[in-house]
Amino acid sequence: ARRIWLTRHGQSEYNLVERIGGDSNLASTGEVYARCLPEMLLERLPLVGLERARIEEIVAGVEAGTAGAAAGAARAADPEPLPVPVSVWTSTLRRTIQTARYLPFPKLRWKALDEIQAGACDGLTYEQIAQQYPDEFMARSKDKLRYRYPAGESYLDVIQRLEPVVIEMEREKECIVVVGHQAVLRAVLGYFMAKPLASIPTLDIPLHTLMELRPRPDGTMDYEFIPMP
Ligand code: F6P
Repeated sequence: ARRIWLTRHGQSEYNLVERIGGDSNLASTGEVYARCLPEMLLERLPLVGLERARIEEIVAGVEAGTAGAAAGAARAADPEPLPVPVSVWTSTLRRTIQTARYLPFPKLRWKALDEIQAGACDGLTYEQIAQQYPDEFMARSKDKLRYRYPAGESYLDVIQRLEPVVIEMEREKECIVVVGHQAVLRAVLGYFMAKPLASIPTLDIPLHTLMELRPRPDGTMDYEFIPMP
């Protein structure tokens, strides 16, 4: 059966210093997650026999292969896509593209998957926001769903802009891996799991964890969290 996997990008440089937004690169821990993702997904691919053996062979090759790289070091970025029914969707931000770069599947970048726009607060820590924009900070803590950052977005805005992505996810026949961001994945998970709107801004979307969604015959979904081994 078709599966949908959701994951946040690996830990970024901004995550490390608790700054929000931006377009930072992966931190070294995030890079480790990016390198683990091919195997984590491989174990979950609903494929059998030869196909699986072939995929394992190719992924192993990708791991071992990069000419000239120090032994055991690099895995090739952007490997040749495998002929299997899986596609990878990222945002247009570096941290998701970098997280997906070892996955041997065709990739698509969606602007609509970019993280919630924090506008005037982009690049700040929550502490700095509380100090520099105390009223904004209070307003957000009172109504995180509707609160819109100055010159930025609210969760409701994000939910609305994700509509075409979600429609496409439902229409798609292939398995999809979505490498996204905290707020965006709260909205996507909330949609597929039919969570109440008010609960969406605080759904738990841990780093370095794959979330697997499996459609049930009645149209609802089972989901499972698969942490990095
Ligand atoms: O901190 C990571 C991050 O993705 C930020 O870029 C974003 O502003 C935030 O999470 C969204 O989470 P919350 O809505 O809880 O602030």
